[in-house]
Amino acid sequence: MLKQIVCTIAVAVTLFSCSQKSQQMADDAFLHLIPKPVQAERLQGYFNVSGRIAINVADGNAQTLQVADMLIQTVKPVAQATLTTGTAAGFTSGILFVTVTDSTLGNEGYILHVTDSLITIKAQRPAGFFYAVQTIRQLLPPEQYNNTSHKSWLIAACSIKDYPLYALRGSMLDVSRHFFGVEDVKKYIDHLAAYKMNVFHMHLSDDQGWRIEIKKWPKLTEVGGSTQVGGGNGGFYTQEAYKDIVQYAAARFITVIPEIDMPGHTNAALASYPELNCNPKDSLPKLYTGTEVGFSSLCTTNEKVYGFIDDVIAELAAITPGPYIHIGGDESLVTPKEEYIKFMNRVQPIVTKYGKQVIGWDEIANAVLQPGTIAQHWADTLNPVKAIAQGAKVIMSPAKRVYLDMQYDSTTKLGLHWASYIEVEHSYSWNPATLVKGVEQKNIAGLVAPLWTETIVTRSDIEYMLFPRLLSYAEIGWSPVANRNWEEYKVRLAHHGLYLKAQGINFYQSKQVQWK
Ligand code: ACM
Repeated sequence: MLKQIVCTIAVAVTLFSCSQKSQQMADDAFLHLIPKPVQAERLQGYFNVSGRIAINVADGNAQTLQVADMLIQTVKPVAQATLTTGTAAGFTSGILFVTVTDSTLGNEGYILHVTDSLITIKAQRPAGFFYAVQTIRQLLPPEQYNNTSHKSWLIAACSIKDYPLYALRGSMLDVSRHFFGVEDVKKYIDHLAAYKMNVFHMHLSDDQGWRIEIKKWPKLTEVGGSTQVGGGNGGFYTQEAYKDIVQYAAARFITVIPEIDMPGHTNAALASYPELNCNPKDSLPKLYTGTEVGFSSLCTTNEKVYGFIDDVIAELAAITPGPYIHIGGDESLVTPKEEYIKFMNRVQPIVTKYGKQVIGWDEIANAVLQPGTIAQHWADTLNPVKAIAQGAKVIMSPAKRVYLDMQYDSTTKLGLHWASYIEVEHSYSWNPATLVKGVEQKNIAGLVAPLWTETIVTRSDIEYMLFPRLLSYAEIGWSPVANRNWEEYKVRLAHHGLYLKAQGINFYQSKQVQWK
């Protein structure tokens, strides 16, 4: 009898401490969201994710149903969720998706209301539902990623209203210096999506490699795609593979911005086709596997070059549903300035002819910008001001703050440091709308953090440079300036490290953060 009582008490204590631990985890999760929501209020209680859960998508379109399905997959280790569509009225238990009209939410905002029996997600557009689900993932415990032995998870009851500060938020991956296959690229896209980023900029060509199949110019990939920095095999995306990437990104509300860099950074193309060079009879440039910049240029005075560009843009535009094509324009150090300007004045209309909006690195502001052209600021602080004077918007990618290939400090083994060392605080504690004189919030289309890959070879290398700085950029792009503060952020980040660990992400454990 005594044994039985002791056993019962022991079980009760275990259960109690277990549920206390679950509640603590849910409380913590609510306090440590990244990016920080616009408004978030804790309510009493917990929603228990277990057993059977009804998910109702009221007046749902196909994209919202896909988002609901992602949530079903997320809770699968602990709950069997079933999807219905129908009116929201009378639905009092489970998870409810409701499309609403609320202009403060825009296309990407959402309202998330959690009680102990009902999770209600409201949004105007499917992207808003998707971002609400990303928030729910952070409200769930880190064990969702690596421990399926749990019987239930708790979500803290709360009320969140959330929408982004900037329209474009994302990251660039240089697949030219080192090539990364489709699976690595999809993983990269997953990382962006998890933090509510909506732009994936692919740097598809450079001196060291041409990475996208162009059917009319097959040697670009046969020859120009055959190597990479250090002399490895390189690689390229067939148009089918690229379309697969674009579709994968679109399902996560991410727009792919393809970049073909020109007139400089073009050695791989020049080595593939003699007719793109000014003196084709001279010795053809060889494939290049080093890391110097600024030595190559398409022959801007050669008519054939414009036919080539037209063909490339036509094929790229046809497989790119997003509104933008990036034409590079940086570091064309061997192109005479007048020629560079004429070239950019001529190439922009080729892009717009195929229905796309031009993006160029900030040097493009020296040309006459077409309506809609966006300048991507990376180095020269006068160029974005020149772009704005022409009525253009600016994407902020200042190298000394957001280049993900910059080392954290002098002990970092990967990466470079020509722009700056970028420790985590340095990546976080700045404001795009005050960094450059003459560039204000109203001029800024968004924030894109590039990862150049001269020294980056593996997926693990990518993760080490991205994490945790990508989270700084996600929050700067999303959260109101008034909600951002390094001292408070570093506590949230420390806790979020548990989620990175649970996912097996190779992240930099900065000493500036007291990791849990
Ligand atoms: C650049 O870093 N050359 C844009």
